[in-house]
Amino acid sequence: MPTHKLLLLPGDGIGPEVSAEVEKVLDRLAADGSARFEVERGLVGGCAIDAHGVPVSDADVARAAAADAVLLGAVGGPKWDGVPYEIRPEAGLLRLRKDLGLFANLRPAICHAALADASSLKRELVEGLDILIVRELTGGVYFGEPKEIVDLGNGQKRGIDTQVYDTYEIERIARVAFELARLRTGRVTSSEKRNVMKSGVLWHQTVTALHARDYSDVELKHELADALGMKLVQAPKRFDVIVTDNLFGDMLSDVAAMLTGSLGMLPSASLGEADPVSGRRRALYEPVHGSAPDIAGRGVANPLAMIGSLAMALRYSLDMAAEADRLERAISSALDAGHRTADLARPGETAISTSQMGDAVVAALSASA
Ligand code: NAI
Ligand code: MG
Repeated sequence: MPTHKLLLLPGDGIGPEVSAEVEKVLDRLAADGSARFEVERGLVGGCAIDAHGVPVSDADVARAAAADAVLLGAVGGPKWDGVPYEIRPEAGLLRLRKDLGLFANLRPAICHAALADASSLKRELVEGLDILIVRELTGGVYFGEPKEIVDLGNGQKRGIDTQVYDTYEIERIARVAFELARLRTGRVTSSEKRNVMKSGVLWHQTVTALHARDYSDVELKHELADALGMKLVQAPKRFDVIVTDNLFGDMLSDVAAMLTGSLGMLPSASLGEADPVSGRRRALYEPVHGSAPDIAGRGVANPLAMIGSLAMALRYSLDMAAEADRLERAISSALDAGHRTADLARPGETAISTSQMGDAVVAALSASA
C-alpha cells in the first residue's frame, strides 16, 4: 500500500477548524485501508508571522516542495493588518505558489442538486452543473513588465500593466486542460480576446496547434472571453473544461463560483510542472474562501470546500481517483441528507457545526466502504 506524504498548513481564522475535518476524513480513508498518509504540519500566514516573523519559513517551503500534496486552510485576519506589506499573511501563500511553480489553478464549479436553489440562477440552469476552470496563474498582466505608474509631468499620470505570454506558458497550461478533459467528458473551451489583443492571437494559435498535434481526441472550442462570460450565466451546463489566462480566469472563475451557491463549498487546486522522470507534480490544494474572521473560533464554518480540496488532491496528486469520487459522493450524500452549516441553511432550517458536518461526511464515507 502506498504511503502519501501530505503537508497540512491550517493557517489562520477558520483554517484550523476546517483542517481538523480534513484530518478526520484522512483517518477514515486510512482506516478503510485505501492508503497510508504521513501528515506533517506547518505554519503559513499570520500564525507563521507570530512564530517566525515571516509568513512562511524556508523550512516549510522545503517541506511543501517535498510533499506529494500540500493542503492549505486559509491565511490572514485583522490581527495582522498592520504588518509590513512584504511579510503580510498573503505573502506566505504567494511565496508558496511562486517557489513551487504552481502555474495551473483549477477551480471546479459543481452545483449539488440539494443546493441548486442557493444559486443566483434558476435551478434548471445549474442543477447538475460540473465545470472546471483552468486558469493560468503565474503569467499575464498580473506579472508582465513594465508595470508602473509614470508621472507625465503635465499634471497627468499613466498607469501601465503589460500582458505578456510566451508560447511555453500557453502550451503548458493548455496541456493541463487537455489532460484533465480526458479524465472528464473530453471537451475544452479556450478563451482569450484575439480580436483586440496580440497575446490573445498567440494564445489562440498555440492552443490550436497543440490540439492538432497531441490532443485531437479532445473536442476544442474557442470563445472570446466577454462572450464566454455571457454564456456562463446563460447556459453554463454546455461547458466542461475552460482554459484561460490569469486575468480572464480570475473573473470567470468567480462568475462560475456564484452559479453554485456558497463560498464555503468551493475547492481549488494549483499545480506545477510534471517532473520528467517521476511524473509527479508539485501541488497545493485549498478552499477558495479566506480565513473568515467574522465567524472564526465559533465552530460554524462550512468544511466542505476544504474536504473537497482533499478530494482534488486524491484525484490529481495521489492517484486515488476512485477514492476521490467516493469522497465527493459522500459530500453529496451529506447534503442530500439535509445537513447544512449556517452558510447553507435557509430560513427555518437548523444549522449544524463544522465538526458535525465533518462527521456527516465521514459517516457517508463509512456507509460506502
Ligand atoms: P472570506 O472568504 O474569508 O469571507 C467572506 C465571507 O464568506 C465571510 O462572511 C465569511 O464568514 C464567509 N465564509 C468564508 N468561508 C466560509 C466557510 N467555509 N463557511 C462559512 N462561511 C464562510 O473573505 P474576506 O472576509 O474578504 O477575507 C478575510 C481574510 O481572509 C482576509 O484577511 C483576507 O485577506 C483573507 N483571505 C485569504 C484567502 C486565502 O487564504 N486563500 C483568500 C481570500 C481572503
Ligand atoms: Mg479573485
